[in-house]
Amino acid sequence: MKKIFLSLILSLFVLSMQAQDINLLQPVKTGGKPFFEAVNARRSDRTFFKREMPLQTLSNLLWVANGFNRPDKRTVPTGSNKQEMELYVVCDTAIYFYDAKQHALKFVAYGDFKIALGQPHISNHAAVTIAMVADLDKASIESARISAGYISQNIYLFAASEGLGTVARGSFKQDDLPKALQLKSNQSVILVQPVGYLK
Ligand SMILES: Cc1cc2nc3c(=O)[nH]c(=O)nc-3n(C[C@H](O)[C@H](O)[C@H](O)COP(=O)(O)O)c2cc1C
Repeated sequence: MKKIFLSLILSLFVLSMQAQDINLLQPVKTGGKPFFEAVNARRSDRTFFKREMPLQTLSNLLWVANGFNRPDKRTVPTGSNKQEMELYVVCDTAIYFYDAKQHALKFVAYGDFKIALGQPHISNHAAVTIAMVADLDKASIESARISAGYISQNIYLFAASEGLGTVARGSFKQDDLPKALQLKSNQSVILVQPVGYLK
């Protein structure tokens, strides 16, 4: 009983302090605000109340942003289905890569990398920040910028539907963030997008 209770508690929260891979929960594909209400609520927010994001919410967010909704295709379109965009999750004490095929978080680095995100008045209070990273071997930077826009809008609509706050950000530390994410030379950060709890 004690063991079940403990695993239930663990599954409720993002284990941002874990230096290991994390299995995400299956996305819940029902509920949320009706589409027109979510579009009407879409907006940028920059002031968050610091709170940890439940694992189910993070699982849903990542699936909406760039998950697979068909065996080989995703919730967002890409030119010629190149699927050049991947997501990284920057938490307070760690960075993870979102393995969309496995729907899992792969551990990248342990530490507080928020300074690399820039704009600390936003980054420091977000629950998580999603970094949208392009593989420029797969598509051009122009295509990647368009693809990032689709991901960003899905995040905006998810946040609006869930009553969370978010803002697309083109401003981040251009040299520090790719290093923190341990990107290769063919990878480029296009946008970052914090998601947090509204005050
Ligand atoms: C490509 C792009 C880059 C942006 N970069 C930033 C940014 O670095 N910092 C920020 O606070 N907002 C940024 N924004 C958010 C815009 O300022 C915001 O969307 C705009 O003011 C309109 O407000 P709304 O989203 O609430 O409609 C960005 C938006 C886009 C689409």
